[in-house]
Amino acid sequence: MAKVTFDRVHKAFGAFVALEELSLSIQSGEFVSLLGPSGCGKTTTLRMLAGLEQPTRGTISVGDRVVNDLAPGQRDLAMVFQSYALYPHMTVAQNIEYPLRKRGVARARRRELVERAATQLQLEALLDRKPRQLSGGQQQRVALGRALVRNPAAFLLDEPLSNLDAKLRSHMRAELIELHQRIGKTMIYVTHDQLEAMTMSDRIAVLDQGRLQQFDTPQEIYRRPVSLFVAGFIGTPAMNFIRGTIRPDGNRLIFEAGRLSLKLPRPLVRPDALRDDGVAVVLGVRSEDVGLAADGERATVKVVEPTGHESIVFFDLMDHTVVGRVGPDVHLAPGQPVGLTLNAAKLHFFDAGTGAEGGRRLNADQASAAVTASLVA
Ligand SMILES: Nc1ncnc2c1ncn2[C@@H]1O[C@H](COP(=O)(O)OP(=O)(O)OP(=O)(O)O)[C@@H](O)[C@H]1O
Ligand SMILES: [Mg+2]
Repeated sequence: MAKVTFDRVHKAFGAFVALEELSLSIQSGEFVSLLGPSGCGKTTTLRMLAGLEQPTRGTISVGDRVVNDLAPGQRDLAMVFQSYALYPHMTVAQNIEYPLRKRGVARARRRELVERAATQLQLEALLDRKPRQLSGGQQQRVALGRALVRNPAAFLLDEPLSNLDAKLRSHMRAELIELHQRIGKTMIYVTHDQLEAMTMSDRIAVLDQGRLQQFDTPQEIYRRPVSLFVAGFIGTPAMNFIRGTIRPDGNRLIFEAGRLSLKLPRPLVRPDALRDDGVAVVLGVRSEDVGLAADGERATVKVVEPTGHESIVFFDLMDHTVVGRVGPDVHLAPGQPVGLTLNAAKLHFFDAGTGAEGGRRLNADQASAAVTASLVA
């Protein structure tokens, strides 16, 4: 087991910056996901850790050892790729045994380690099969087994479930969580699937365009996303965003966006950001914080998407589309007028500015959590 540290690690390919000054400290035994859209630098980060790519500058440590100058084989890490890359002509047992054979481990010991890995991954009955005789999930387990026998300090997993169908994915997800609980090893897991990251990780590092956006627990990232990017990336359906202005009005604050006008509890926005003519902001509200109430503001149902245990509903709220969720017993029809409330304690505000500084979360002191906003037409 080992902690893994990135200290101001920078990676450029020619003029293109793939990773910008990444600092990340992963605890021993922790399950950390690197999450972000395609091209944000996840694989590059993992490959640098594995020794398959050199950082342009910065230091990478495993345990207390700086590994920058160590060859991949000396780093005591096992990497599992998206494509399992099993040897087709070898049996399951031979595939798992291969790294041990390469290291010159004695035969009896090899057998013992293969058996242990096979038990841990429930592969005992498949040891004599060839990869082509296995399902995708079974192949993935063999690839994991091959990593497991090496008893590495940490596992690096690059989208290992992305070739599997939805059902198998969720099954393997549970198996990986269980494996992590059982062996307690540091695991660094690359994914662009936010649900996967949310359900599996102790902490998630959210990356966008080579920059670390937020590194925190799934709950904290969900509750207090630091930027518009993180807020929009985490959660399904995606957070509702409404661009508008906040200005003082007497002893209150008002959020305005076209015909929509929303009274706010005072401490929601950093006072120094606030001028009399208002500041441009983006209001964010999650679908579960949109509610129906007879005395709520006038809105119209646009589209209803039943999912079985609930329905996702698109509303028109003063020309803004807002997505909410209702229980299976609430029947709504397109065109139907309804009253909507937004939970004031759960509103998020982001700086509307563009560029590197734009899109940051505005200080939302939620001391006023009990206050419910009323919408004024
Ligand atoms: N050897 C290379 N030469 C030039 N550019 C590269 C090289 N490897 C990666 N890149 C670029 O660096 C960026 C990050 O790539 P990376 O593979 O780390 O993305 P990723 O987050 O893993 O994406 P995906 O989810 O699609 O796998 C991309 O824009 C990619 O094109
Ligand atoms: Mg990748």
